[in-house]
Amino acid sequence: MSCIYKDPNAPIEARVKDLLSRMTLQEKIGQMTQIERSVATSSAIKDLCIGSMLSAGGSGPFENAKSSDWAAMVDNFQKAALESRLGIPLLYGIDAVHGNNNVYGATIFPHNIGLGATRDADLIKRIGSATALEVRASGIHYTFAPCVAVCRDPRWGRCYESFGEDPQIVKMMTLMVTGLQGQPPHGHPSGYPFVAGRENVVACAKHFVGDGGTRNGINEGDTISSHDELEEIHMAPYLDCISLGVCTIMASYSSWNGTKLHNSHFLLTEILKNKLGFKGFIISDSEGLDRLSSPHGSNYQQSVLSAITAGIDMVMVPFRFQLFLEDLMHLVESGKIPMTRIDDAVERILRVKFASGLFEHPLSNGSLLDIVRCEQHKKLAREAVRKSLVLLKNGKDPKKPFLPLDRNAKRILVVGRHADDLGYQCGGWTATWDGKGGRITTGTTILDAIKEIVGPNTEVIYEQNPSATTLARKDNSFAIVVVGEGPYAESSGDSTELTIHFNGAELISVVADEVPTLAILISGRPLTLEPSLLEKMDALVAAWLPGSEGGDGIVDVIFGDHDFQGQLPITWFKNVKQLPMHAEDDLYDPLFPIGFGLTSENDVIKS
Ligand code: GLC
Repeated sequence: MSCIYKDPNAPIEARVKDLLSRMTLQEKIGQMTQIERSVATSSAIKDLCIGSMLSAGGSGPFENAKSSDWAAMVDNFQKAALESRLGIPLLYGIDAVHGNNNVYGATIFPHNIGLGATRDADLIKRIGSATALEVRASGIHYTFAPCVAVCRDPRWGRCYESFGEDPQIVKMMTLMVTGLQGQPPHGHPSGYPFVAGRENVVACAKHFVGDGGTRNGINEGDTISSHDELEEIHMAPYLDCISLGVCTIMASYSSWNGTKLHNSHFLLTEILKNKLGFKGFIISDSEGLDRLSSPHGSNYQQSVLSAITAGIDMVMVPFRFQLFLEDLMHLVESGKIPMTRIDDAVERILRVKFASGLFEHPLSNGSLLDIVRCEQHKKLAREAVRKSLVLLKNGKDPKKPFLPLDRNAKRILVVGRHADDLGYQCGGWTATWDGKGGRITTGTTILDAIKEIVGPNTEVIYEQNPSATTLARKDNSFAIVVVGEGPYAESSGDSTELTIHFNGAELISVVADEVPTLAILISGRPLTLEPSLLEKMDALVAAWLPGSEGGDGIVDVIFGDHDFQGQLPITWFKNVKQLPMHAEDDLYDPLFPIGFGLTSENDVIKS
């Protein structure tokens, strides 16, 4: 009998139907299983028909592995999958959320909060395309991006993964899906997964739904709202992603009005699949099923039953996959989960695999390796940094702008650890899950770039914590103080105080008391700025988490080769006690309102 599913010219739905009809129950539930590379073996992949794998944050072949090393690793797992009875290829996923950020030497773009400040959807699409190329260069087919959370409270540890607090900004930025997956042809059915070709990847809109709206910004907490508010604020970006053909959507750890999303048949099936017509697959978050019961992971079979019944199609287990397979097999054989639910899940998974061309091109394409952090991508990242910078203050007297700085000044004092720390300027989800300081990848720090741009007679002095002697010198032309947050991810970033880390406020104050000072904040969100501190500094720039080209991009603007164009994607509060606070509130009394941003002429930028 001819294998329709192996025919690349056959319609996708015919290939899905044909392959599904050939699969055993074991193979079907294998396809619904995503495992982490650290627990994967070739025999398990082949014999259990495992459908997907992932690299959790920082989980790669070895430290500082390059794209070619990653491609070799992924290809090895893929070859095992291709040896399975039906030869169904693996979908290998990773969190490439600001470039292919786990891979050493990849281009690291600004995190989403900075991209939201650009208001430039075309730029975001170009970043998506560049990211897809670098992900495919590492042999990987699937990224858990874009995060389309609408961050309604900066105390949320994942604020920087959001494009901002306004759903209209986030909707604009969903063009990231088109960058990653490619442009669907005119008339492509809304909700149907689409991937253009071998230089694109399967994308994942996350985390459905309301992850950025939890009470007090508590990560994985409870979003308490009416259904209308949930739809207008948090669900709105998903309509765009679905119309753009997003292949997968990840369920949120968080809850809505007390019901966990991983358990919500209403939101996952009745709304997302039935009402919004999403035809790709819904993936759980990592150990999302384990978090349905307490203590974590107890009563697991009940969690499997409720999550799969609710509409989860693929489970990011990702470690205890034998238990998951056994429990799911038992639940189907005992009739607690109907085969129709399993078939719906597997059809969706196979649909994405066929639509992405994975059956035709399961292995890496070595010709892409030269594109990793190529000049074009570095320039693109540098452009994104420039456009993301928000000028909040320029001169103690607005009629006498402090910026742009004089690159031929006599003596420039550079201060603060964030001025010379690549890891800090990249933030979380870089090299490792929660990021770390130091030269964690290739790139340019702010200090590197300042030294590069200044004139031959200009002295650049760098002191992380300057001495009184240094500050007292009368020949300091001006100081650039770079402070902010250390790297973090998810709940470790939740904060009730939102202060500048490492006594950064004190550092600005001490320097600004002696020397004319530009303060640059490297942070994933607005931070507390006392009025007295704001008054002391001569200029203030919010640089967010600018990534590997952060040094060059920042220097391009503060020394005047380009002007500022960034606008706040999120309200800058005066005091954390005001939070949550949004422009539509009756009492809206921010330090800087959402949308605020100055040009170097001190003109307020208009949207
Ligand atoms: C994490 C995150 C999710 C990520 C996944 C895989 O816990 O919530 O955003 O894609 O696990 O790393």
